[in-house]
Amino acid sequence: MSGFVSEMRRSGNGLLLRICVIAAIGGMLFGYDTGVISGALLFIKSDLHAGAFAQQAIVSSLLLGAMLGAVISGYLADAISRKWTKVISGSVYVIGALGCAFSVNAPMLIGFRFLLGVSVGTASFVAPLYISEVSPPKVRGGLVSFNQLAVTSGILIAYIVNFLLKDVTGNWRWMLGLAALPGAALAIGMLSVPHTPRWLVQQQRQDEARGVLERLRDSDPDADVDDELDTITEASKQEGSSRVRDLLAPKLRPLMIIGLGLALFQQFVGINTVIYYAPTILADTGLTSSSSITQTVFVGITNVVFTIVAVLLLDRVGRRKLLLTGTVGMVLSLILLGIYFSSSTLQHQAGYLALVALLIYIASFAIGLGPVFWLMISEIYPVGIRSKAMSVSTLGNWAANFLVAATFLSLGSIITREGTFFLYAAIAVGAFVFFLAKVPETKDRTLEQIQEDLSISDDHPTKESA
Ligand code: BGC
Repeated sequence: MSGFVSEMRRSGNGLLLRICVIAAIGGMLFGYDTGVISGALLFIKSDLHAGAFAQQAIVSSLLLGAMLGAVISGYLADAISRKWTKVISGSVYVIGALGCAFSVNAPMLIGFRFLLGVSVGTASFVAPLYISEVSPPKVRGGLVSFNQLAVTSGILIAYIVNFLLKDVTGNWRWMLGLAALPGAALAIGMLSVPHTPRWLVQQQRQDEARGVLERLRDSDPDADVDDELDTITEASKQEGSSRVRDLLAPKLRPLMIIGLGLALFQQFVGINTVIYYAPTILADTGLTSSSSITQTVFVGITNVVFTIVAVLLLDRVGRRKLLLTGTVGMVLSLILLGIYFSSSTLQHQAGYLALVALLIYIASFAIGLGPVFWLMISEIYPVGIRSKAMSVSTLGNWAANFLVAATFLSLGSIITREGTFFLYAAIAVGAFVFFLAKVPETKDRTLEQIQEDLSISDDHPTKESA
C-alpha cells in the first residue's frame, strides 16, 4: 500500500506535489457540479417555476457545454499551453457559478450552466494531461489520479453541502454559487505553476523545458534530466505538429479505439445514474427521502475512500489488474441490483441489500474504471497528437454521460428498473472483454516508452501483465 507514498518521499519533491494538487482542482469543479445539481434542482423547480423540460435542460445544458469544452480545449492546450487553458477554465467557471447563483429565470440558468459546462469539459482533461506531463513514471498513476480523487471529493462535498443547506432560504443559489471558490482557486493557483516540459519542447523552448525538468526532478536520485529531455525532444520531432485529421491515421487507430472504448464504457456501465439518482434509487427501496439523502452521503464517502485506494495501488499493482478486478465487481453488483429490484420478497425482507450493492458497485468503479480511464488517455497518445486525441476521448465520455443521464428514467419505465441494471451488467461484461483484449499495462513506463510500445506494430503488447 505504501508504494506510492514512499516513492513520492524518495523521488518526488514539494514543487511536484504542489503543482499536481493545484492542477487537480480542475477535477473538483467537475465533481462538485456533478453532485450538486440533484439536490439544488428540488428547490430550483419551485423557485423558478421550471417544468419537466426546463429541469432536464438545466441538468443537461452542463453536459452539452462540457462536450464543447472538450473540443475547444484540445486546440487551446496546444496553442496557448496546458497552463493557460486551465487558468481560463477556472476563470470561466467563476463567471458561470456566479451567473447560476444570480439567475432570475430558467433560461438564464440554462445559459450559465452551459458556460459552466464549457469550463468543466476543459478542466476534465487538461488536468490529467498537465499532471501526466510533469510526473515521473513511478508515481504517475497516483499523481494523475489525484484528479479523480478531486472529482470524487467534489461530489462528496456537493452531497454534504446539499445536506447542510437543505433548510436554508435561497439555498440553491448558495449551492451553485459556492462553486466559484474552487474555480477561483484553480485560476489563481495555476498562475503559479510552470508549463509542462513536453509542451515547451513542442514550442521549441528547449532551455525552459530543461529548467522546469531540473526543478521537478531535483530530489529524484534516478533522474537523468538530459536523457529525459532528449527522449521528449525525439518523440516530439517524430510526431511533428498535428492536425485533427491525423487522428484517423492507421497508426493511431488502435490507440483511438482504446481511448474511446474506455470513454464510452466508463459511462455506459451506468456510473452517473448512481451519482445523479442514488437518492431516487434508494427511495424506491422504501426509504424516506431524508434517509435516502443521508445514505447517499455513504455512496459519496465510499467513492472517495476507494479512489484513495486506487491512488495508492495504481503504480504498484498496475492499471490492468485494478481495471479488470473493478469491472468484475461492477458486473456482480449490477446483477445483485437487478435481482433485488425483480424480487418483491428481497425488497420487503432485505432492504439493506440495495445499499450494499450500490456501495460495492461504486467501490469497484472507484478502484478501476473511474481513475484508469482518465489516466490511460493521458498516457497512451504520442505527444504531438496527445491533447487532440485526449479531447476526442473526453468528448466521447461527455456525450455518453449525456446519453445515459437522459435515458435512465425512461429506460426504467420501458424495460423496468431491474431490466436497466441487467442491461448495465451486460455492458460491463462487454467492457471486461474489451479491456482484457485491448488495454495495455503502462505502469513504470515513460510516456515516450509507452508510445514506442504501442506503435511498434498494430499487434501491441496488451496482455503481458494481466
Ligand atoms: C467519471 C464521471 C463520474 C465520476 C464518479 C469520473 O471518472 O468520468 O462521469 O461522475 O467518475 O466518481
